[in-house]
Amino acid sequence: MSKKLFIETLGCAMNMRDSEHIIAELSRKESYTLTTTLEEADLIIINTCSVREKPVAKLFSEIGVFNKRKKAGAKIGVAGCTASHLGAEIIKRAPAVDFVLGARNVSKISEVVNQKHAVEVSTAFDETTYSFEEYRTNPLKAMVNISIGCNKSCTFCIVPATRGEEISIPSELLLQEIRKSVANGAKEVMLLGQNVNDYGKRFSTEQTPCNFTQLLQQISTIEGLERIRFTSPHPLHMDDAFLEEFASNPKICKQIHVPLQSGSTRILKQMRRGYTQENFLNRCAKIRRICPKATISTDIIVGFPGESEEDFDETMKVLEAVRFEQLFSFKYSPRPHTEAAQYTTQVDTKVAGTRLTRLQARHTEILDEIMEAQLGEIHTVYFDELKPNNRISGRSDDGKLFFVEGSEELLGQILPVKVTKTSRGALNGVVITLED
Ligand code: 5AD
Ligand code: SF4
Repeated sequence: MSKKLFIETLGCAMNMRDSEHIIAELSRKESYTLTTTLEEADLIIINTCSVREKPVAKLFSEIGVFNKRKKAGAKIGVAGCTASHLGAEIIKRAPAVDFVLGARNVSKISEVVNQKHAVEVSTAFDETTYSFEEYRTNPLKAMVNISIGCNKSCTFCIVPATRGEEISIPSELLLQEIRKSVANGAKEVMLLGQNVNDYGKRFSTEQTPCNFTQLLQQISTIEGLERIRFTSPHPLHMDDAFLEEFASNPKICKQIHVPLQSGSTRILKQMRRGYTQENFLNRCAKIRRICPKATISTDIIVGFPGESEEDFDETMKVLEAVRFEQLFSFKYSPRPHTEAAQYTTQVDTKVAGTRLTRLQARHTEILDEIMEAQLGEIHTVYFDELKPNNRISGRSDDGKLFFVEGSEELLGQILPVKVTKTSRGALNGVVITLED
């Protein structure tokens, strides 16, 4: 009988992909199959995130709960960024944990799983040429890591400490992986990395130079692949050649994440982001000019140490200027191993909370206006998930979530859809036939 694996994935898309790697490895080498019932599992893995403080605190209470609920003899493993960050301390604080596997060490899963109290958290480890078996949460959409780690030193961010230095995966391996996923049914690929458009600075093996723009060009020649998405690019590496490729390549989805973090040039400098408000607005204006149908999303942190009301107003100003379709906004959370955590100018958490509410409230108004204007519009939608009550969902080229009446025969199809009803989070529509 096969052993059962229960895996919980927190955090970002990189973690989701790492979980897929873990599942594939454990299935091939250790004959595990997935279960969604914790009590049934022989192995429980929590793939953690440490980007903010809350999920880290939650981890230890969760280990306690899982330990009570698990069947006798079942193992618990902690993987991901908190594993990298806390290492052996996790087992000290929670002896119920059997092994700790860092975010850069996922390829070692089958080694640690059978070793009591194994801790593999080296960030100097290089797994960029490691060949994982194919496992896709949704075979219609393949997530593919193009680089691991991060070479930036944003003063608020723990990721360079958890995922190590940036290294790119050789393009030939990426093309092979994407071709394989297309052969298995994927029409869409999501390229993943901390700073995808910094791709190609350093490879682990010899390789002809290839930057992100060139990689996009190569990937778009793959037959059967219809859509390319990527996350996250960094505003600093949005050169004209990259933005022009984004705008003109029909396979590249017209949705782009441009993480702002703060609208104040003074704060951006303290965050060590490498750009000013003006540079940022210039890049967004260029996107709007050469690709008017593109949607722009962003990340914003409020209450970074030293942020004054005037600094926060600058962030609001950028929100008004760009009118981001999607906003991921966070209250600054001091993280260990980061410079900003040492700053003596920490902002009162209530003040930060008020700013976050203001930012989100204004963004909600903008979003409502954007979505209401969608009524009657036509989008091409890739149907990728069946929903209850004879409904099916998918994403438009520019990333909007659609619900349409329909069943299996639509799954995996890319079709024109007319918007019949709008709401803040999603659009309802009907499939139409386009007249020539
Ligand atoms: N506090 C709050 N938000 C953070 N992020 C990264 N580090 C922190 C922190 N210390 C946010 C950034 C990043 C997103 C993934 O998480 O906005 O883009
Ligand atoms: Fe992803 Fe960053 Fe969280 Fe790690 S810390 S899981 S890289 S969001």
